[in-house]
Amino acid sequence: MVPRRAEASAPAKLILVGEHAVVHGYPALVLPFAGVRAFAELAERPGPAQLAAWGWQGALEAVPEQLAGFAECVRATLARLGEAPEGFVLRLSSEIAPGSGLGASAALAVAVVRALYAAFAQEPTHDDLTALAAVAERHAHGNPSGVDVAGVLASGPIRFVRDTTPQPLDPGGALHLVVADTGRPSATRKAVAALQQRLELEDEGVRSQLVRLGELADEACGALLAGDRRRLGQTLDQAQTSLAALALSDDALDALVTAARTHGALGAKLTGGGCGGCMLALAENAAHQDDLVRALEAAGARQVWRHTVIQERIPS
Ligand code: PMV
Repeated sequence: MVPRRAEASAPAKLILVGEHAVVHGYPALVLPFAGVRAFAELAERPGPAQLAAWGWQGALEAVPEQLAGFAECVRATLARLGEAPEGFVLRLSSEIAPGSGLGASAALAVAVVRALYAAFAQEPTHDDLTALAAVAERHAHGNPSGVDVAGVLASGPIRFVRDTTPQPLDPGGALHLVVADTGRPSATRKAVAALQQRLELEDEGVRSQLVRLGELADEACGALLAGDRRRLGQTLDQAQTSLAALALSDDALDALVTAARTHGALGAKLTGGGCGGCMLALAENAAHQDDLVRALEAAGARQVWRHTVIQERIPS
């Protein structure tokens, strides 16, 4: 079938509690973050399929290393659709900086799969999206937990445990978050591999922090459901202590976390892979969210976003 023109996008994600521990089977609390998005646009073009991104354009077989996972994802998606890799160029673009800890590769992979399905007039299921985006994620991360794709695909906060169906959480009150980027890219793949190595050496200090992060993720889920902002904030702070003990924070993240706390944040921590990338803070309300934005900008954040999670009660 000749593909038709198609466009798709996907949001970023925010891990509130549980990054890294989630790789090892502990729970995490994650939500979609539509403040920044990734895009894939497919146009008809005769000849072998091409990818285009970041100033590069060429055949799937000739992609540079940074696009190799997406080329694999395109091939896997076409195979599932029963279509040949020809007749189009797929242009990728993103507002989500790579290494920001916001799930840049997962969002782009989901946008790629959605655009291809749309181009061949098909609708992917949640399972299709999860499995096919994971092809690109394995390339980007080595050993992804799947939390990024789950967060990107979610419609609100979820409790995620590796290889299980995510559990949607209905927040018991609005959450006013602020997200700030240090501007220094985090190296998720390297950080995940370093922790894995320490676990293989039976580093009990590492194991106990991962257990703790899993417990904190469940406490955070409970606080979110109960609408207990104060308790949720405490779990963020406690998670930051554990992540710092695992050497996943750095000076730039610490400076932004300190600035948020000095200005009354209920809690603040790094989010995502760490050692660079973004942090997040929980504000009291919308006005306090504005104060925190200003404080984080003054503390040197490269970019700051507000993100409000609205209380969604399902009518009984
Ligand atoms: O840095 P990001 O946005 O890719 O988030 C990584 C989250 C980790 O828990 C560190 C890795 C994973 O696959 O769960």
